[in-house]
Amino acid sequence: MDEGRDLSRGRPQVSAELRARLLERGTCDHYEDAALYDFEYADRFEDIEWYVALADELSEEAGRPLRILELGAGTGRVSLALLASGHHITALDRMASMLERLAAKVTRPAERARLRVLEADMTAPPIDDGTFDLVLAPFNTLMHLYTQEELRRCFAAAWRALDEGGTFAFDVLLPDLEWLTWDPSTRHAVTFFKHPTSGERLVYSTNHSYDPATQVCHVRIFYDDAPSRPRAFKPPPVPRRLVHLAHRQIFPEELRILVATAGFTLEGHSGDFGGAPLSVDVQSQVVRCRKPPRPHRPRKS
Ligand SMILES: C[S@@+](CC[C@H](N)C(=O)[O-])C[C@H]1O[C@@H](n2cnc3c(N)ncnc32)[C@H](O)[C@@H]1O
Repeated sequence: MDEGRDLSRGRPQVSAELRARLLERGTCDHYEDAALYDFEYADRFEDIEWYVALADELSEEAGRPLRILELGAGTGRVSLALLASGHHITALDRMASMLERLAAKVTRPAERARLRVLEADMTAPPIDDGTFDLVLAPFNTLMHLYTQEELRRCFAAAWRALDEGGTFAFDVLLPDLEWLTWDPSTRHAVTFFKHPTSGERLVYSTNHSYDPATQVCHVRIFYDDAPSRPRAFKPPPVPRRLVHLAHRQIFPEELRILVATAGFTLEGHSGDFGGAPLSVDVQSQVVRCRKPPRPHRPRKS
């Protein structure tokens, strides 16, 4: 079942029901196997270093550890590094599978005391207003908000969560029109691996379709049994496991409108974690923006 393959071709048979099902699966499937998630992104460090450096810089300005809310904290790749740096973390995610793995990694009582794990939706987080110095949404998390309304609600929630002068930082992919329109039937990134918990020998491969009507890219990740000889691998007609990953593309001007409409001041918008400008040579949009500080009112004498 290779659902959604025709989305990029604008075929009329792609019903609203199918689109809705793909979005539902596209925000959950990839996060059900949390151990596999950690295994697949074990090499990703640059973003962690950038978020920790940002928090430490703001903490130095404030003269104390920060109160940080991570939206879509997942298995804690970023949250746990911030915790180790001495900050107070609220790790919010809507997938229990991811949060359970995050919580299991925190064994030191001193760190547990600075961590709150919150299973909730980032468009309506159940938190008190003005209680955070820094709100983060690392690693394409905002790309799981598929409509304007969801994005607007999430930006408004980040604004409310922050204290005056607080920072909202996140990264999302820079839409790559050439990549988005690749042939949706060809498999890419074919990789042989051993599952981190079951030990099974599997083959990973992907393809994707871009739906221009909704700006959502539907990535299909196929997991198949590995043949004894890698060269003999041919994708079977029915995959052993098919994971849908749906990513809403956010174009730079749209992103700037979201930031400004929510009331933030844009302080940085670069193409990678080293500060490269946005261009066809970069893959990300790394953003930091600030809720303006409370205006200083001179006391009447
Ligand atoms: C790509 S992962 C990023 C996880 C983590 N920030 C990291 O850097 O590894 C995106 C996370 O966002 C979560 N997520 C997606 N939609 C969400 C929503 N509406 N509310 C809360 N979490 C959501 C997913 O469950 C997943 O854990």
